[in-house]
Amino acid sequence: MKITVPKIINLKNNRVISMMTAYDYPSSKAISDAEIDIILVGDSLAQVVLGYEDTLSVTVDEMLHHVKAVTRANPNSLVVADMPYMSYHVSEEETIKNAARFIQEGKADAVKIEGGRKREKMIKALINAEIPVMGHLGLTPQSKNIMGGYKVQGKTLELAKELLEDAILLDSIGCFSLVLEGVPKVVAQTITEKIAIPTIGIGAGVHVDGQVLVYHDLLGMKSKEYIDAKFVKRYDNQYEKVVKTMKNFKKDIENRDFPTDDHSYDAGDSLLENLKEWKKEVKKILS
Ligand code: KIV
Repeated sequence: MKITVPKIINLKNNRVISMMTAYDYPSSKAISDAEIDIILVGDSLAQVVLGYEDTLSVTVDEMLHHVKAVTRANPNSLVVADMPYMSYHVSEEETIKNAARFIQEGKADAVKIEGGRKREKMIKALINAEIPVMGHLGLTPQSKNIMGGYKVQGKTLELAKELLEDAILLDSIGCFSLVLEGVPKVVAQTITEKIAIPTIGIGAGVHVDGQVLVYHDLLGMKSKEYIDAKFVKRYDNQYEKVVKTMKNFKKDIENRDFPTDDHSYDAGDSLLENLKEWKKEVKKILS
């Protein structure tokens, strides 16, 4: 059954919410079949799929292309589209227009926005336009230049208080859930206890209402040399498996072990009966 925004809100204090990123049709199908509650078409698309250096480079059009691929799989999971950098920073009108493209053209169920009080006006405008919003606080990758890199946030009393205030604000203005990324576990736990909407952690410890990981990180779709963030758990090593499989294919075709007769088509009787004649025809054409 399709997961809805009210269902996600009701899961708080009932069971742990699962969220996974996806960027295409097959991963969307697999995640839905695994009964994951939420698919996030994250702007991590920029690095893990498109090969950009950071999330600042990805555009609304690029994101939309992938949101459409994900929703074409008709997943039961709630689909949340990540609003990319500069798509919700300029004006309320532009923010609504961009978010509406994800809902109307992309068929997403909700959008995600990074930031707290700085984004209050934009989030209120979206909710007024009937677009559900997932918040995102802590290590917000679109702020990497302001933060001076990808650093754990809320490590001092002052900064932890600011994070809590932002979380309370996002709850009070109507966000339906909140991603907490790269914050000390005690801060994430306190926020989770103080707000009514579910928190979904990534690098935020175990005392939150749900967990999210990036699809390619969890599956180990990066080479061994790539250093994962501390919060990543590789459940598989698919990069190594893919390389091994490609090598097997190359070896097979070089040894003429593939394709076999099982993978090839036979000619029809009439062609077989007239094979000699056909070969003569071919010679004539080539001469
Ligand atoms: O873009 C993304 O993948 C995200 C998650 C890490 C929360 O924002």
